[in-house]
Amino acid sequence: MCGIVGYIGNKNAQEIIIEGLRKLEYRGYDSAGLAVLTEQGLSLDKKQGRLANLEELLAAQPLKGHVGIGHTRWATHGRPSDLNAHPHTDAKRKFAVVHNGIIENFLSIKEELVQKGYTFVSETDTEVIAHLLDDLYDGDLVATVQKAVKRMRGAYALGIMSEHEPDKLIAVRLASPLIVGVGEGESFIGSDIPALLEHTRDVYILNEGEMAVLTRDGVELFDTETGQKLERDIFHVDWDLVQAEKGGFDSFMLKEIFEQPQAIRDTIGSRIDLDEKKVVLPELKMSDAQLASYDRIYIIACGTSMHAGLVGKDVIEKLTRIPVEVAVASEFRYRDPIYTDKTLMIVISQSGETADTLAALREAKKSGVTVMAITNVVGSSVAREADEVLFTWAGPEVAVASTKAYTSQVAALYMFALYLSQIKGTQSAEQIAEIVDHLLELPGQISQILADADHVRQYAERIKDVTSLFFIGRSLDYAVSLEGSLKLKEISYIHSEAYAAGELKHGTLALIEEDVPVIALATQPDIYEKMVSNIVEVKARGAHVLGFAFAGDNDLIKTVDQVVYVPKTLPLLAPILTVIPLQLLAYYTSAARGLDVDKPRNLAKSVTVE
Ligand code: G6P
Repeated sequence: MCGIVGYIGNKNAQEIIIEGLRKLEYRGYDSAGLAVLTEQGLSLDKKQGRLANLEELLAAQPLKGHVGIGHTRWATHGRPSDLNAHPHTDAKRKFAVVHNGIIENFLSIKEELVQKGYTFVSETDTEVIAHLLDDLYDGDLVATVQKAVKRMRGAYALGIMSEHEPDKLIAVRLASPLIVGVGEGESFIGSDIPALLEHTRDVYILNEGEMAVLTRDGVELFDTETGQKLERDIFHVDWDLVQAEKGGFDSFMLKEIFEQPQAIRDTIGSRIDLDEKKVVLPELKMSDAQLASYDRIYIIACGTSMHAGLVGKDVIEKLTRIPVEVAVASEFRYRDPIYTDKTLMIVISQSGETADTLAALREAKKSGVTVMAITNVVGSSVAREADEVLFTWAGPEVAVASTKAYTSQVAALYMFALYLSQIKGTQSAEQIAEIVDHLLELPGQISQILADADHVRQYAERIKDVTSLFFIGRSLDYAVSLEGSLKLKEISYIHSEAYAAGELKHGTLALIEEDVPVIALATQPDIYEKMVSNIVEVKARGAHVLGFAFAGDNDLIKTVDQVVYVPKTLPLLAPILTVIPLQLLAYYTSAARGLDVDKPRNLAKSVTVE
């Protein structure tokens, strides 16, 4: 996730763009850059690190002009550096491009351009766009952008300007969010409303596959594919700035919950070969033979990331038959683990900076163990020190309670497990293709669940004053129960416990009495009947049970008091869907209790001390 701002008008472009970028820093902050059409032509400055570093540079030597584009980056392709920062230009500096998202086929476009003699200076996918525009330019910027976009696959948003046609800015949206603002004698591009709010409240929110051509006199919208002009009513924003930073949501947590379809799409999109219906992991440096040689995997992490690891364990074991052990990093680092040369360690960390996780990684490396990281932050300590990295493309997560990071970690673990099973031959091509098909449906299914959020809100009202609550489930449902329980307790401060449902009768059942709420997940067909028996056990003691089941399950409601249905998918993929209503439940319960959802007491987003 990155931030884009563009300006065309008669004012100082640098000032307006930098001010806009400041409002978007939450979207990325590992580097920033600005390009302006000055009297000397297209000029630019970019700098690694926070926006302040770029501002320092610009204060000494401002870029003077009335048309420009700027960017604040959250690295995907290519580590954070001055060179990899946006905007990117062609060698003649005729085109400048800022980009949010991923161009999945950039390597093949790059190869073609290299053969034509183009040279590349950065490691980014974005740079190909600038060269491609130069290659395709035929005197018509709009048509050239259209042609270029048709060549690019992926999920992205672009801001483009060119010295050839200095009175235009172009914005393109394919999946990543982008808006366009309309002012008096000026027009704006922004990744998000806060970037523009000080200048205009009249915006067009671009839909997927749309392109906007901005001039000082206004904005025209087009369908990128057909070139057809589009008519659209202007959206008048009546939010204040704080509301706008949260995308109109009440909190960052809720916004991040709603960002999950995109986070999953970004995390799996570039790793699925749609033609062959299989997983590709081009980022892995080790050979397939080496990867296939591991006979034992440790997954080490803290908090929510550890819960993602628990889902990963079941999935890896089911698909590859390799034993996996999951441990919390703070315990594991002081253990005397049994390593062999066939041991692989996977560390999972959203921030990539959690002290215990980092320490466990270092201990393992000291013992010669290969470590693979799953992390959300390019350039983080974990990413730098691990031998291999699978990034989750969730974008910055602000709320302390992790949501989109969790689901994208789980998605990355699916990718890993499928890849491993492909190279070990433990699943047939048909089985892999079936899972891939269902994976691709997940973002849409999450959107369906989110559209029904109100259902969960009503249940939150019911539990908001209880003192204690239980989650039960078996196998993958148990792993998700642990995360649901953690989410609820961390932001609502209600005591809750998650239990493997079969374990209840060994002690916890003593706590079940009249009206105690129990949340029971029942999506796994192989142990469905056992799960129902466990539900009957708590019902018999007076519990009020909220069940979770797949749509189409008409049986569970006969045993429980209420049911939350999630769209049908493969049982193996259920965790990514069932966790969504659980996140919403935690959110609505916390909100109903009037608590600070984003900053729960005693907790921190990133725990960099032991
Ligand atoms: C903190 C956060 C949790 C997170 C955990 C691990 O406790 O509040 O949300 O799951 O750290 O963080 P990591 O960045 O390593 O995933």
